[in-house]
Amino acid sequence: MALGLRLLLVWLCLLHSVVGYDYEEGKCAFPFRYKRRTFYSCIRSSSKHDWCSLNKTYQGYWKYCGKQDIADCAFPFWYKRMIYRECTDDGNLFGKKWCSLTQNFNKDGIWRYCD
Ligand SMILES: *[C@@H]1O[C@H](CO)[C@@H](O)[C@H](O)[C@H]1NC(C)=O
Repeated sequence: MALGLRLLLVWLCLLHSVVGYDYEEGKCAFPFRYKRRTFYSCIRSSSKHDWCSLNKTYQGYWKYCGKQDIADCAFPFWYKRMIYRECTDDGNLFGKKWCSLTQNFNKDGIWRYCD
């Protein structure tokens, strides 16, 4: 019985690492290029579910998006005359924290909320 439980635990551990590895392989490659546009988030157009490209330039590899599929903040980023190394509520009307998705917010203006 004890041995059986041990084997089960070892097996679960292996399974977990395999699944974790697969998940790492299948990350959205933000920002990615698709049809001459650059995307910083998942795409909904012409499909029922959001999806993203797994390559920086779309090559037919893709996956459906989940909650965790968001672009990383591009720290440090430049906003107005300051360099930010973490999310900020500066300039947000609702006092909610946000971050830039490129290093130059002044030029690109691409952002998302933090959490
Ligand atoms: C595109 O991404 C897939 C999945 O991560 C990978 O298997 C494939 O090798 C990538 N293609 C290129 C050309 O890097």
